[in-house]
Amino acid sequence: MKNKLTIDVLSLFPEMFNGVLGSSILAKAAEKALVEYRVTNFRSYSTHKHQQVDDYPYGGGGGMVLKPEPIFSAVSDLVQKADTDHKPRVILMCPQGERYTQKKAEELAESSHLIFICGHYEGYDERIREHLVTDELSIGDYVLTGGELAAMVIIDSVVRLREGALGNETSAQTDSYSTGLLEYPHYTRPAEYKGMKVPDVLLSGHHQHIEEWRMKESLRRTWKRRPDLLEHRTLTEQEQAWLEDIKSEENN
Ligand code: ADE
Repeated sequence: MKNKLTIDVLSLFPEMFNGVLGSSILAKAAEKALVEYRVTNFRSYSTHKHQQVDDYPYGGGGGMVLKPEPIFSAVSDLVQKADTDHKPRVILMCPQGERYTQKKAEELAESSHLIFICGHYEGYDERIREHLVTDELSIGDYVLTGGELAAMVIIDSVVRLREGALGNETSAQTDSYSTGLLEYPHYTRPAEYKGMKVPDVLLSGHHQHIEEWRMKESLRRTWKRRPDLLEHRTLTEQEQAWLEDIKSEENN
């Protein structure tokens, strides 16, 4: 994961990316040369005299369809211009894609070249899906006006996993989902605010008790909010015992 990650985005609205890629961790990652963002308006790859990128669907019906040529040419050009020999992941943003998860973020963070294709029209010419794209991703079961916001969500979740992107190296590993559980509750000063107190154990200075409290609360939160996550995770004997405690505590 040491070398640079090149992230290409193909969009008809490249200005949408300025704020997100130019702020916070994502901007710092680029300053540190851990990542390079290249946002391209694929309209510039249209050979049509009015720079048309969409057309009516064969067979009739409503809506416009993104033409294959500008997208195929843009991808081939960007692959040539990337300073890596690794094959890129060519990712099509669409609501029909595979549901995006932290596991996929971890997989994408291992790549050295990602190309995101963001559409805004009724659909993509099917040849783009069949012959160009390696992944089709959806960020959830709802429909956005275009793939841009979805691509930004994915870029954010991938870049923060790259070595050196976060100030604190351990924080990505203890994130909710990376451990298969939701994160435990966090507290900071003051120890008491308007009668609301920080749990005593966190003020005790007893590291092992604090660690155990955190693991148990992480389990409690997951069981209460996302029990489905527990179905996909093998619990240790200790976790199993805590879970039994939690269930009886919560039922009283
Ligand atoms: N484009 C439109 N809706 C989308 C979604 N839910 N995920 C990814 N891309 C999209």
